[in-house]
Amino acid sequence: MLCKSIMYSVRKNPKPRQLHHVPKAPLPGEPAKPYTLTEIPGPRSDALLNEFSKIQQIGSIQYFADYQRSVGNYLADIDGNVFLDMYMQISTLPLGYNHRSILAALSCAGNQRVIANRPALGLFPGLEWPCKIQDTLLQPCVAPKGLSCVFTTMCGACATEHAIQMAFIKYAERCRRGETFTKEEKNSAIFNKPPGCPELSILSFKGGFHGRTFGAVALSHCKYIMKVDLPSLPWPIAPFPQYSYPLDQHEKENKEEDARCIEQVEDLIERYEKSMPVAGIIVEAIQCEGGDRHASPDFFQCLQDITKKKGIPLILDEVQTGGGATGRIWAHEYFELNTPPNIVTFSNKMLASGFYHSSEYMPRRPYRVFNTWMGEPSKILMLEAVLQTIEAEDLLTHVCHVSNYLLCQLNTLQHEFPHLINSVRGRGFIIAFDMACKDLKTKIAQQMRCKGIQVGDCGTKSIRLRPCLIFGEYHADIFLQILRDCLQELCES
Ligand SMILES: Cc1ncc(COP(=O)(O)O)c(C=O)c1O
Repeated sequence: MLCKSIMYSVRKNPKPRQLHHVPKAPLPGEPAKPYTLTEIPGPRSDALLNEFSKIQQIGSIQYFADYQRSVGNYLADIDGNVFLDMYMQISTLPLGYNHRSILAALSCAGNQRVIANRPALGLFPGLEWPCKIQDTLLQPCVAPKGLSCVFTTMCGACATEHAIQMAFIKYAERCRRGETFTKEEKNSAIFNKPPGCPELSILSFKGGFHGRTFGAVALSHCKYIMKVDLPSLPWPIAPFPQYSYPLDQHEKENKEEDARCIEQVEDLIERYEKSMPVAGIIVEAIQCEGGDRHASPDFFQCLQDITKKKGIPLILDEVQTGGGATGRIWAHEYFELNTPPNIVTFSNKMLASGFYHSSEYMPRRPYRVFNTWMGEPSKILMLEAVLQTIEAEDLLTHVCHVSNYLLCQLNTLQHEFPHLINSVRGRGFIIAFDMACKDLKTKIAQQMRCKGIQVGDCGTKSIRLRPCLIFGEYHADIFLQILRDCLQELCES
C-alpha cells in the first residue's frame, strides 16, 4: 500500500530520522556491518588483475570476490573486505549471496542430474520440464496477466533478439495472409535480401538498453561505447520522457513531456510506413542503464493504444525491472494497462531468461524461434526456490516497506545536501539519485566503496541502488549513515 502511494518519487519531506543507531538485526550469518581492511582493490585483487589482464580486457573489474565467504546482503572480496552490496551483481541476485533455499535446490540429488545433463530444450526436454515451467514461470501469480506462453533463452539480450524476431515473423505472416513462403522469399532470405528478409523495423527509445547482441544493441541508445564501430540498423528512435523532479512540483511540464514523446512515436511510425514499416515497439518499464528514467502510466497507456491501432506488439523489456525488484513481480503492473502487453522479456532477478507472449504470437512453424540450449534448467530450479521464498517471506510487501523508508530518508538527504544530490526516485528497490555532476558521481561511488558500500551507477550522473529482496531497514540505516558521511566529506573538501 505504501509503495503504491509513493509511486516513482517521494512526495513528502518526512521528519529527519536519527541515523546514528547501530542496526540490531543483521540476517543469520551476516556481519553486523561492512568493513574494509585494505584499499580497494586490495593487494591480492591487484595481483590477480595484473595476471588476468594478459588474457582479458579487465578495465571494468572492480575487485575479485570471494563467493565462499559472501553471505546475504554482504559481498566479500579476496582481500578480506566485506561490502554491503546494493548493486547485487548488476541487479541480478534476488536473495543475496548463498541463500539457503537456492543452495538446497542445487544440491538436491534429483536436481543434480537435471543440471549435469544439460539438455537442448528445443529437441529433448526432460519429463519434468513442462511441469517446472508451469510451476514457476507460468504460475498465475508470476506470469504477467494475460500472457500464457513463454520462451526461455540464455540471457537478456537473447530474449530481446528472439522477441523481436517473433514480432517480425508475426508481421510477415499477417502480410502473407496464411500463405506459405514463396520460392523467391526462400532464395532471397539466404542472401539477406527482400522479399525473404523484408525491410521492417522496431521502434525503440533514446536512452534505452536492450542488450549487446546485434539486434539488441541496435535498439540500445544509452552509451556510445557499446555501439561505436559496429554497423547498425537505421530503425526509428523516439524520445523517452525526461521528467523534472520532484514530480509533484512539475506535473504540468511532465504531462507535456509525455505528450511530446507520444506525438513523436506516432510521427515516426508514419514516416517509416513506406520504407521500413514498424513491426513492434520495444520499451523498458524503467530505463535502467540509461539513468533510471521513469515514465508515467499515462505514457505507457498511450503507447499501448498506438500499438493496438497499428496492430503491432508492445514489447516490454522487464529484464532489469522484473522478478520483484519494484515490489511487484512486474513493473508494468503499475501502469494499469487495459490489456496485457503482447511480449514481456525477463532475465536478471528471475534468474531464468526469456519472454512471455500471448498465444497469437506463437509462430506457426517449428525452428523459427530456436537455439541450441533454449535456456538452462538449473536457472528454473533456482527460480523455483526464489519464488517459494518470496511467497513464504512475503518479500514483495517487504520490498515496498523498506523502499518507502529508504526513499524517504534519501529525500531528507537531498534536502540537506541540495547542491550535491537531487532527483531521488524509485519504485521498490529500483532506486536512484543524481549527483550534481559526473565527477561527483564517480567520486561518491569510490568513497562509498572504500567505506564498505557497493553501489552501481547509470546514465551520466546517477547512482543506482539495486539491493536484493532481503535488504532490510537495518541495512538501509548502515547505507544511509555512510552516504551521509560521504556527502559531509564532499562538503568539507
Ligand atoms: C533492460 C535490459 N534489457 C536487456 C539487457 C541485456 O541482458 P543481458 O546482459 O543478460 O544480455 C539488460 C542488461 O542489463 C537490461 O538491463
